[in-house]
Amino acid sequence: MKHTITLIPGDGIGPEITDSVLAVLKAAGADLNYDVQIAGITALEQKGELIPESLIESIKTNKVALKGPLTTPVGKGFKSINVSLRQIFDLYQNIRPCKSIPGVNSRFDHVDLVLFRENTEGLYSGFEIYDERNQIADAIARISYKGSERIIRAAFEYAQKYNRKKVTVVHKANIMKQSSGLFLKVAREVAKDFPDIEQDDRIIDNMCMQLVMYPERYDVVVTTNLFGDILSDLGAGLVGGLGVVPGANLNEECAIFEAVHGTAPDIAGQDKANPTALLLSAVLMLRHLGQHDVALKIESALFETLKQTQLCTRDLGGKCGTKEFTRNIIKHLT
Ligand code: NAI
Repeated sequence: MKHTITLIPGDGIGPEITDSVLAVLKAAGADLNYDVQIAGITALEQKGELIPESLIESIKTNKVALKGPLTTPVGKGFKSINVSLRQIFDLYQNIRPCKSIPGVNSRFDHVDLVLFRENTEGLYSGFEIYDERNQIADAIARISYKGSERIIRAAFEYAQKYNRKKVTVVHKANIMKQSSGLFLKVAREVAKDFPDIEQDDRIIDNMCMQLVMYPERYDVVVTTNLFGDILSDLGAGLVGGLGVVPGANLNEECAIFEAVHGTAPDIAGQDKANPTALLLSAVLMLRHLGQHDVALKIESALFETLKQTQLCTRDLGGKCGTKEFTRNIIKHLT
């Protein structure tokens, strides 16, 4: 069935990489309609608000969105648009697959991790207090049973669905005995419902060392908000950086797929942007929508192109502009 998705081209390089992704989706035969919506600086200039009501309504209706990077103005009291969207839709799962891509320069060849970050609680719950008189600031890391259970279960269900062998729970329960302790306790309970999947756990500091030394030992990883924020960029660094990793924010109802890099204002409008991250986010989206054949077709064509540096964009060591790189991917579609 043809699915209509909400398409947010975004700011800066967003429109260029979105054009590239749309060209590849079309050439590969993706069965999609697009409801194009603006947000960020573009929306602020045209409609006077960063997240227009029409965008929220569109995501509510379509349940799936593909989003380019957005600019949140600095220092004007604006809340991050990405954080706002996660909160509006209660997108508690942040999923970041980090997989080595042949041809993309990185320190490791066999990384294949999927990081699940809890997206709504922990130190990012927003409970911060500043005691002006004593000049002391407190931040509350709220961890709930329900919030932990749903993200941990999502990680195990993903492992089951995609034939993954192991889920590693990352915590700091040795020091944060109540909050991180609760997360670990819930993980051990949930694991009992998935006897075929190995479960282990690591303390966050050790996990950082493990990942930079032996990333191939890890499979699916699930953790709380702050630790997940850090580990997901660490994971991107293991496979070539933010330019080549996709991201998804979702719950059972609704999903927003996004490139995790920013708007790259230094190269915007110059045909220099690399669309790989947004294209891989579109691949995740196609799988979410059940269009597995098209997803595989695009992924294979992209990986074949990335193997030949001269066919790639400058950030990957090649000489091509965004448009030429896009044509090279399309040529590899079979
Ligand atoms: P950035 O990711 O936009 O840029 C960092 C560096 O990476 C720049 O040199 C840029 O040219 C390069 N780069 C990024 N994406 C690239 C791509 N696809 N192809 C080639 N080169 C690429 O990060 P920065 O400079 O910290 O932030 C710029 C703006 O982006 C800010 O307004 C920030 O708020 C926004 N931002 C938005 C995000 C989102 O919507 N998901 C995430 C991060 C930042």
